[in-house]
Amino acid sequence: MTASNYHTVGIIGGLGWLGSALTNSALLSEELAEVKFIVSSRRATATEKHPRVTFTQDNQALVDASDLIIMSVRPQDWASITLNLRDKPLMSFMAGISSHALSKKHRTKYVIRALPNGACSNQQSYTPWYCTSQDNPTLLDFIAKLLHCIGHQDQYDLEDHIEVLTAISGAGPAYPALLAQALQQSAIKLGIPQDKAQRAVNATLLGSGAAFKDLSNPPANTVFVFEEYQGTTAAGLAKMKQCGFFEAVESGVEAAYDKAIHFDSPTKE
Ligand SMILES: NC(=O)c1ccc[n+]([C@@H]2O[C@H](COP(=O)([O-])OP(=O)(O)OC[C@H]3O[C@@H](n4cnc5c(N)ncnc54)[C@H](OP(=O)(O)O)[C@@H]3O)[C@@H](O)[C@H]2O)c1
Repeated sequence: MTASNYHTVGIIGGLGWLGSALTNSALLSEELAEVKFIVSSRRATATEKHPRVTFTQDNQALVDASDLIIMSVRPQDWASITLNLRDKPLMSFMAGISSHALSKKHRTKYVIRALPNGACSNQQSYTPWYCTSQDNPTLLDFIAKLLHCIGHQDQYDLEDHIEVLTAISGAGPAYPALLAQALQQSAIKLGIPQDKAQRAVNATLLGSGAAFKDLSNPPANTVFVFEEYQGTTAAGLAKMKQCGFFEAVESGVEAAYDKAIHFDSPTKE
């Protein structure tokens, strides 16, 4: 099968937030201009939203008509989905459900685990992914193209790295928001009115995005620029480090990773 032979992608749960973000982004991609989508949901929907998107409530019909099946339901809903894929490739967006469990339940040796984050709706996700089998390079090429339409993507050789990144990129804006909350609290404590403190930190984080646009630029370089300047920011950075900033972040990431590997699912193996 060549990349162009992945004609039809079926998304189980495709009317949900992530499935919709993927379909909407894929429809904008020239690289995927030949690809059709089938999306499923348990609820009925009134109209087809695009000539290349069809809707079904029948997951077996979706599997039968698709070249690649994407599982984009919540883990608690996955428990009741019993489909035999007969070695058709399956990509799962579910955190904490192992490729072994997916492969065994859905009878396919081609399982891809991918973990987009909240930025996928504006094509700014970072999506790590892992595939159980390397013997189908055209499949790997197609997965990279599909995930590229929602932002940056990287293939990983170890499934455990998906669990690690669940705790980092999977958190999306959560950790920057915690930093913003801490900065806002500090501003208020030093006398800045609450509403202005909020505007100040939100605007600062928004404006900081440009510093990370070049993915090959180490964050340490940006920190170093401010440390070398030896101004007020250098004093702030030094004190934050001295007070255990790195240790606090590392402990938080480890706690999230631990939760990812001991995910509370009755079907996890
Ligand atoms: N949102 C994120 O940023 C994000 C990031 C990474 C991974 N994930 C994972 O990706 C998956 C989807 O997330 P989401 O945010 O898109 O969730 P969501 O908005 O709740 O979408 C899930 C969809 O699944 C449908 N569904 C449930 N059972 C179904 C079934 N048996 N057959 C067909 N459709 C079914 C639901 O629609 P009906 O109720 O109408 O059936 C719903 O629209 C989850 O496992 C989530 O943990 C999400």
